[in-house]
Amino acid sequence: MYIFANFKAYLDFAETNILVSQLLQSEVFERASATVGLFPSALAFSEVEKALRGTDMYVGGQHIMAFEGGAATGEVNAEQLGDAGAKYVLVGHSERRRIMGETDDQVAEQFQAALAAGLIPVLCIGETADELAAGQTKDRLRAQLATVDTLPEDATYMVAYEPVWAITGSGSGKSCNREQAASMHQYIKDIVGEHVPVLYGGSVNSKNVVSYTSLPSIDGVLVGSASTKLESFEALVAAVNQ
Ligand code: PGA
Repeated sequence: MYIFANFKAYLDFAETNILVSQLLQSEVFERASATVGLFPSALAFSEVEKALRGTDMYVGGQHIMAFEGGAATGEVNAEQLGDAGAKYVLVGHSERRRIMGETDDQVAEQFQAALAAGLIPVLCIGETADELAAGQTKDRLRAQLATVDTLPEDATYMVAYEPVWAITGSGSGKSCNREQAASMHQYIKDIVGEHVPVLYGGSVNSKNVVSYTSLPSIDGVLVGSASTKLESFEALVAAVNQ
């Protein structure tokens, strides 16, 4: 079971460091039955990486650019992120698709760049409210998964199914019911294979987390807002611990 925490741009440098030091002192986290990964902002990344050395928690990046090279002002490439100690990187998060206009092709390039740099990409996919209403969910997921079709069998990556409409702040914040989550996860597993971990994301909190993690097709959760405060993050990890 995985619990990945996407801090997005919620926390500044000091807030990130305070939260991480609280997590490191927390008994709930010490007893965590799940693999915990933190995805801080690029600014706080190195501090978090240092703080987590020698612990059971992992650190990942929220974004990498699609190609190698140095002449790319404002960007971080996959090599740089790996060199800074990242194990994982999110690619194709719906907020980047929507706010930064990232396309399926760019996401596919980021995904390949992550694999080439030895990072484990977490490919984020999900349908919008309009696609859901139009009955296009499976077609959309299939298109977003096209990038994995040509992968060698032994490629190590993960998928996060995040219905865009269910994400706090960028969607309605309504969580997806477990039946829909279960059926989409099975659909994804049928495409990528049982060996690829598939996480669920979208308004996951301490109250609903077990309804997802108790499903056999859900290998973990990708949590945004509920991971950004000690109380709500601890409660979520404690619920999974039970
Ligand atoms: P949320 O975000 O838990 O705040 O809905 C999840 C995500 O976007 O990864």
